[in-house]
Amino acid sequence: MKIIVAEKAGYCFGITNAMKLAEDTLKQKENQPIYCLGDLSHNRQEMKRLEERGIIKVDRIDDIPRGTVIIRSHGVSKEVIDQAKAKHLKIVNATCPFVGAMQHKVYDYDRKGYQIVIVGDADHPEVQGAVGWCDERAIVINTPEEAEALPHYEKMCVVAQTTAIEKKFNAITSILQEKADECMIFNTICSATAERQSAAVETAKRVEYMIVVGGYHSSNTRKLFEVCKAHCSNTCHIETAGELNLAEVKKYNVIGITAGASTPDWIVKEVTERMEENKTENTQVQDQAVEETVDENDFAAMLDQSLQD
Ligand code: F3S
Repeated sequence: MKIIVAEKAGYCFGITNAMKLAEDTLKQKENQPIYCLGDLSHNRQEMKRLEERGIIKVDRIDDIPRGTVIIRSHGVSKEVIDQAKAKHLKIVNATCPFVGAMQHKVYDYDRKGYQIVIVGDADHPEVQGAVGWCDERAIVINTPEEAEALPHYEKMCVVAQTTAIEKKFNAITSILQEKADECMIFNTICSATAERQSAAVETAKRVEYMIVVGGYHSSNTRKLFEVCKAHCSNTCHIETAGELNLAEVKKYNVIGITAGASTPDWIVKEVTERMEENKTENTQVQDQAVEETVDENDFAAMLDQSLQD
């Protein structure tokens, strides 16, 4: 059996940064409660670990009486930031720079009078947060049919949910180009998402069975599953090593593994270890995963840029 771990599997630098900020905040607790709005990461196992260490998860800013609030990598609306400031909460902003850059375009072009169109999932917290940067005036669409159904606008600004599938975004924007006299299109899909998807596709093409590891409610993991399934029909999505179907795994000689950007390395390791326990004499593990790092100064500059009004 040969096991191939895709390049760029697991945590992206945005989630790595959010987790580091959460850990640093826990270390400096200062006898004040620490809250996060929604899941800091779309991974239940990692959230459970953080909650056990003292982070309190709430759904609304109204549920925070005092202390510190960590803004997750998906970002929040401007109204939520303003409310946190009005309540004198200490804000730890872990909004991913890619999300911040997308929110900035929404805010900026809305003020310039453009109709904002966000290509993405209207129910996803990142998109809901972004809509809140233009007083809810954005239109959210997710299919070419929805693009066709839009009326004609004088000025339109189009952005993508950072985890959108590039091919789908391109198909939708080619329709939207004809829907406005002036159409500004910003491909705000993050490089981590695009790189994970193309590395996953490359691996899926080479294997008989593909395992995608990550939260069931993680948008980028579900999209990894979608792109892998298109190239390897025997693709499964699991959240933990315990869910691995070893009887199924044994049927194949070449197996691939990839993981969503919110999947911690320790879960990917548990999956590979469980497969290794099950190995035959001929098992070979080819781990192509490369650690994703960004120079600290570059990251700080990106973060500053993304948080500017
Ligand atoms: Fe950011 Fe992309 Fe990760 S938007 S949080 S780098 S998946």
